[in-house]
Amino acid sequence: MTGLQEMLGIRYPIIQGGMANIATGAFAAACSDAGALGLIGTGGIREAEGLRKEIHILRERTDKPFGVNLMLMNPETDKMVEICIEEKVPVVTTGAGNPGIYMEAFKAAGIKVIPVVPAPILAKRLEKLGADAVIAEGCESGGHIGEMTTMTLVPQTVDAISIPVIAAGGVADNRQMQAVLTLGACGAQIGTALLAAEECPIHENYKEAVLKASGSDTIVTGRIAGVPVRVLKNQMSREYLSQEKAGADKMELEKFTLGSLRRAVFDGDIKTGSLMAGQTCGQVTKIRPVAEILADICRGIPGIS
Ligand SMILES: Cc1cc2nc3c(=O)[nH]c(=O)nc-3n(C[C@H](O)[C@H](O)[C@H](O)COP(=O)(O)O)c2cc1C
Repeated sequence: MTGLQEMLGIRYPIIQGGMANIATGAFAAACSDAGALGLIGTGGIREAEGLRKEIHILRERTDKPFGVNLMLMNPETDKMVEICIEEKVPVVTTGAGNPGIYMEAFKAAGIKVIPVVPAPILAKRLEKLGADAVIAEGCESGGHIGEMTTMTLVPQTVDAISIPVIAAGGVADNRQMQAVLTLGACGAQIGTALLAAEECPIHENYKEAVLKASGSDTIVTGRIAGVPVRVLKNQMSREYLSQEKAGADKMELEKFTLGSLRRAVFDGDIKTGSLMAGQTCGQVTKIRPVAEILADICRGIPGIS
């Protein structure tokens, strides 16, 4: 046991990343059922009631613990927070902002709050505000990223705070899992490796692109605008970079990314879609059930039955 299993009531010390447009109630249920903490991603949910629907879908499929990932920039966040409380969601992870204003309400409802942090200084601030743990996400990961690598971020965050630290970014196999535990993390949040899960609801073209990609086939868009996002190299990411250099503003670029993720996920548009993926894509070579992926990553970790 690493402590994370006990804290969240799960078999493996793994959280499935709350990937926008991908982490549906059905996918989160499959991950929870397989022994991880499944998360429903709200990044692609336009109206708050859509979240309630996904929670109900999940609960029809599993009675295992799960969570919701709130993107705090989403204008529906206030309503989504209320829904998490009404629906007695056990765990909330947060990204893209400071969950401080919601902390009291979450605590009163007995919800565990686990923010995603890109730097130790933010982890310190969130510990003071009452976070139960943090997810320290290194820039190897797919999607929105910070500057620090998992290798540097995890130990520095562990040293900076006394609440548990979960590593994210660059964990796709057993060696990397063992490594982040050695760095002091109590578990890992995983995105890219789960894109290739049988149960993952992305278009097969997107899955194929991840399977084919090598570790050097990702690129970071949005660095100039301050919204860095790691994606696979394709026509869209190359065009994005040239738009960025031409001076497009932050909001324009963000809309461009979100819309294009939907095109990749739902339409399988691998030319103009945004194929968010992390550097572990070079290790992801076959489509397998979630249960098999998790069992492989956690092989040999003490305390897993
Ligand atoms: C396609 C994709 C979409 C993502 N969307 C989100 C999101 O909406 N919210 C979030 O907190 N993290 C998001 N992430 C990050 C994951 O939750 C997770 O932290 C990350 O993938 C871990 O690193 P890895 O890709 O190396 O496994 C996304 C990642 C991917 C690959």
